[in-house]
Amino acid sequence: PLSGPVSDSASSSVSSSVTVRVPAKVNVRLAVGAARSDGFHDLANVFLAVSLYDEVTAAPADGLTVTCEGPDADQVPLDRSNLAARAAEILAERSGLAPSVHLHIAKNIPVAGGMAGGSADGAAALLACDRLWGLDTPRAQLLDICAELGSDVPFSLVGGAALGTGRGEVLTPVPAGTFHWVFAVADGGLSTPAVFREFDRLTAGREVPAPQASPDLLAALASGDADALAATLANDLQPAALSLRPALADTLAAGTGAGALAALVSGSGPTTAFLVRDAASAAAVAAALEASGTCRATRVADGPAPGATVVSGPSGR
Ligand code: C5P
Repeated sequence: PLSGPVSDSASSSVSSSVTVRVPAKVNVRLAVGAARSDGFHDLANVFLAVSLYDEVTAAPADGLTVTCEGPDADQVPLDRSNLAARAAEILAERSGLAPSVHLHIAKNIPVAGGMAGGSADGAAALLACDRLWGLDTPRAQLLDICAELGSDVPFSLVGGAALGTGRGEVLTPVPAGTFHWVFAVADGGLSTPAVFREFDRLTAGREVPAPQASPDLLAALASGDADALAATLANDLQPAALSLRPALADTLAAGTGAGALAALVSGSGPTTAFLVRDAASAAAVAAALEASGTCRATRVADGPAPGATVVSGPSGR
């Protein structure tokens, strides 16, 4: 098992460690197709990276250890199921190295919330280890490893705004203006496989059309026009998330009642996302959501935000 002291290595060995900052994401359009024979679903997944960040610091160590700090750190697994640990293992294996690294995660992205927090840590750890070990792996190979780690991980490396097809891992960057968001964090997480299974149950016996991101949505995203985006954003996983967590409907209603232009479940949930006109409106909607008692906490962010970026230690591209 992975274990280790709560890290002081991030501060004590600055010169020999690498820190990567990585954003959360919201899906402005998550179109879900029928289940494939491999169990995954084809998607047309329009990702927008937002300015809520985790930081992963990689420092030399005797073995592979993971520690985590932050308000929800106790919910983060520190074993090989953590995508940061898996990223280090896969990169080391492909490079003929031992995965001798201590990974410290400063966690700010909601855990198991549908904002790709685990995926973000996987992408960040991959980039941090690559720089720590002086590998300078070509971008295309890093993206391949990201796709092996999970469907949302490539986007965490790339950031900005992108259309994800296939199971979400095949990315095409798309233009995006700036949008302001409020996120409502729910109590507890939702399992992504469970939400996809519920989607299958709810759509059983119906023809599920091939997933598509509409030209209207992509045009609205490019224009930076919040009203236009509000009219077109949608999440096909929302009925499944609401079926598993009916109370989320109250959170969505509280946000729209407080003046949000649109409300939707983020990814597989249970975090809910509220598109607002500007930073002042974000503060008002966040305060109303907190007062409503329908969520555990709120976060305010905007996007697009840059993908995984080296912020200290050997710099990257
Ligand atoms: O790719 P990732 O490991 O993040 O996916 C987690 C789970 O979510 C998968 O095992 C699958 O159940 C579901 N999933 C899916 N279709 C996708 C992406 C994820 O069914 N395109």
